Amino acid sequence: MDSSLARLHQTAPPEESFLDCLVRGLSKTPKDIPCKYFYDSQGSQLFEQICALPEYYQTRTETALLADHAGEIAQLMGDGIEILEFGAGALKKVRILLDAARVAAYSPLDISGDYLREVVVTLAADYPALILRPLIGDFTQGLEIPLLPGNPRRAGFFPGSTIGNFRPDAAMALLRRMRALLPGGGLLIGVDLVKDPARLHAAYNDAAGITALFNKNLLARANRELGADFDLSGFAHYAPYNALGHRIEMYLVSLRRQSASLMGQRIDFAAGEAIHTEDSHKYTIESFREMAARAGFRPRAVWTDPERLFSLHWLES
Ligand code: AVJ
Repeated sequence: MDSSLARLHQTAPPEESFLDCLVRGLSKTPKDIPCKYFYDSQGSQLFEQICALPEYYQTRTETALLADHAGEIAQLMGDGIEILEFGAGALKKVRILLDAARVAAYSPLDISGDYLREVVVTLAADYPALILRPLIGDFTQGLEIPLLPGNPRRAGFFPGSTIGNFRPDAAMALLRRMRALLPGGGLLIGVDLVKDPARLHAAYNDAAGITALFNKNLLARANRELGADFDLSGFAHYAPYNALGHRIEMYLVSLRRQSASLMGQRIDFAAGEAIHTEDSHKYTIESFREMAARAGFRPRAVWTDPERLFSLHWLES
């Protein structure tokens, strides 16, 4: 195959437990499915479509922040570093850093091995001198990621406000674990900000219905991968903003009394019963810096756009 793949060192994927999670999450009240299961190859592609939606300001704003401050970011990161990206997705944003900083190595970590394998080929072709170490794994699990030979200083990269998918206590615990992976380095992290609820609501309830498809992909994936028989038209995408909790909450709501079968197990839904599929927490610049400090980081630089929609933080380990 492509000779550029020869220099990729791949770690083994973790035990797949989509089925276990699904059975457990749909057998209890209230029902839930962890949001990490959005990201199979199709879900990752749907998420890329979300990033291009007019209502989804996050990606556009963060990309502009990265581009506008790339020189300063490169200086803070230092020369000859390894960039370790948590939940690397389409590998688009990192290109801004690869073009601006002296990066020796790039280790993209993603839960979707199929998708990572697809996108890493193009990146390898575009950056032939870069040491690439794609890692398939779940960053919510305790991971040990050994330093590369020569021990280059490591900078973490966690864009997209993915930190918002964790409840504040879990987010802090995750930041702590990330800090342990970045000795003597730092973390560049994107964080979506609290704002007019109407703006937030629109970002998760787009007119084209892509976010609804993304949400329903959880059930579509179960049908594809596990031979389940969820009727996608029997569920509604529902994503309200919880103003007290500072978070978007995403649900799939059963439009009628129905049941589905999942590997011989019957799952019953009452009319109006919800599956909780995602939380997306929003912070103020101050509340996020406080949390990062409690996780052991020293919050240094922070950048935001004129409308204060999104923030980008450099946290020293
Ligand atoms: C995974 C955090 C980037 O919460 O905004 C987008 C996922 N869900 N639309 C977010 C998502 C619905 C997204 N992040």
